[in-house]
Parts: sequence; C-alpha cells; structure tokens
Amino acid sequence: MNKLEVRNLKLYYHTSKGVVRGLDGVSFHLDSGETLGVVGESGCGKTTLGTALLNMPTPPGRIEDGQVLLDGKSILQLSEGEFRRIIRWERISMVFQGAMNCLTPVYTVRKQMMETLQYHRPMEIAEAEERIRKYVNLVGLSEDVLRRYPHELSGGMKQRIVIAMALFLEPDVVICDEPTTALDVVVQAQIINLLKDLKRQLHLSFIFITHDLATEAEVSDRIMVMYAGKAVEIGTNEQIYGTQGPAHPYTRMLLAATPRLHRKVDQLAFIPGTPPDLLEPPAGCRFHPRCPLASARCRQEEPPLETIEPGHQAACWEVLS
Ligand SMILES: Nc1ncnc2c1ncn2[C@@H]1O[C@H](COP(=O)(O)OP(=O)(O)O)[C@@H](O)[C@H]1O
Ligand SMILES: [Mg+2]
Repeated sequence: MNKLEVRNLKLYYHTSKGVVRGLDGVSFHLDSGETLGVVGESGCGKTTLGTALLNMPTPPGRIEDGQVLLDGKSILQLSEGEFRRIIRWERISMVFQGAMNCLTPVYTVRKQMMETLQYHRPMEIAEAEERIRKYVNLVGLSEDVLRRYPHELSGGMKQRIVIAMALFLEPDVVICDEPTTALDVVVQAQIINLLKDLKRQLHLSFIFITHDLATEAEVSDRIMVMYAGKAVEIGTNEQIYGTQGPAHPYTRMLLAATPRLHRKVDQLAFIPGTPPDLLEPPAGCRFHPRCPLASARCRQEEPPLETIEPGHQAACWEVLS
C-alpha cells in the first residue's frame, strides 16, 4: 500500500481580485521510505501543495476538492481538532520555506524546542529533555547548541534545528520546502547529506520541494514536475535524468537551465517568459505560451497526465500523440 496517495487535490486562494488556482488538481503517490522530489519554477504551486497536505492553507486559501489517503485512510474529512491531534506534525510534518529565519530570537534553542514539543505532546520534562537531545544529536549538532540563541547559530545549524523540530514527534511523512535555498553551497551539500542519512535511519517518506533540479537529482527517488498548479510530469530519477531525458518540454527546458558541473555556464539555456498568473491561467496546456512545440490543439485542449511508460507520466499532446 502507498504511504500517501493524493487524488485531484485542489487549493484555491479566494483573493479580492478573484480566485487564484494555486493547486489545481494534482494526483500522485508516495511510497514508504521514498523521497519524492517536487520541482518547478517559483509560483508553480509547490508550497501550496505542502500546505494542502497538512490541511493548513494560508489565508485566503481553501481546499476545494480532492482526497489525501495516508496508509489507505482518507484524512481530509477529519475535523480540524482530529487532524491536529492525530495527523499534523504527528504523522505528516513540514519544514516550512524560510522556517530557520523564524526561530524566536529571545528563546534559547532548548526553550524553543521544549515549548514546541510540549505544545504538541505534553510529557515529563526529563522525557522531553531526552527526546530533544536525541534529535539534536540525530541532526548532527552537539548538545551545547541547546544553550544558544538563534543569532549565535549559523544558517546550517538553524536549518538543522528546524529539521529536528519537524522530526521529534516521529512523523512518517516529512515535507521539506526548499530546505537548502537560503544556504551556501557547502552547507547545502551538508544538509542534503543529513536528509539522506535521516531517511535511511528513520525510514521516513520525504516530499522534497525545490526549484532546483540539480539538488533534486541528489536526494529523490522519483520526481514530480509542477507547472502552473498542475503536475506535468512524474517519473523515476532515471526516467527524468537518464540518457533518454524527460518527456515534457517544460522539464526538458528546466533541465537545460540547470547548472551542472560538466556543463559550461555559457551553454546554459533559460526558459523565456514566466509562469502564468493563476488568476487566469492560459486555456489548453498551461505551458503552451512558452512552449516551442505548441500546436493549435495545445492552445485549446488541456492535455491529461497520462502514463507513457511504466512509472512515467506526462501531460503533453506532443508526447501523447
Ligand atoms: N496566500 C496567498 N494568497 C494568494 N495567492 C497565493 C497565496 N500563496 C500563494 N499564492 C499564489 O499561488 C500560486 C502558487 O504559489 P506557491 O505555492 O507559493 O508556489 P511555489 O511554492 O511553487 O513558488 C502563485 O500564483 C501564488 O501567487
Ligand atoms: Mg514555495
């Protein structure tokens, strides 16, 4: 059975200007112990997907439709109280984009972690202390960080604290939203190694969100590429990065725009234009205004996400035809 199965999930933002379709009907699954990478340019709905899985839309967002099954059980119809008690942080947790910069400046790391832990799961102080120490060690920090304040920590250390706090209720699915974006390259590599270790040690299922395909290739078993609130391609690492290359023109262009060690920077392509405004997404395939292969059909009819080979799906008329 899949750890997580997501069917036609939609989250819309009801703004004064109209309805922004941040997440517009996404379906995928996540296996136990697997890391699914979610990639796409900024504004494609990656963070919105994370908040939808936690049933925690950012105002004025609302989940409009769809199902999320955790170990085969549908969870979105639970009341807010039940969801908070048995699912959020307990079973599914999230390292929010930029969370490391939101640690309370006047609290020591110990107090910060203690309050968060006790809020979610009241327990004896000694037990809580022990659990905090365990997770601080697990993320590769020494216990003396517990006495420090956030401003006394490096970015990498703060990110490790935030990861420890996403783990210490022992969830089985952890969503990491751009966990390395604000860090320098060396620290990025360290955090990626940490996440790989944690996945092995704790048998976690990860959803790893990033706008960077190169980072994704390092950590993920499978990749879901998002564009304009939709999944446009899903495949294994091999199917996306292998010699055959990805199927969807958007993924191909993203990959061509990704710096890699063996490629000269002056050969880097970039994708002209920007992702569409999700107040009024383009008709047909949402990528068609930027797609070099777009035909008349692409401008009118939306391509479904279909299986093109086992384990590999794409939503593109050029690929399907
Ligand atoms: N709180 C919000 N209110 C209105 N629109 C939002 C809000 N959050 C995100 N959006 C819109 O939803 C779309 C997806 O955003 P987001 O999920 O943050 O993308 P990503 O994480 O891929 O950069 C964007 O068009 C963004 O402008
Ligand atoms: Mg985001």
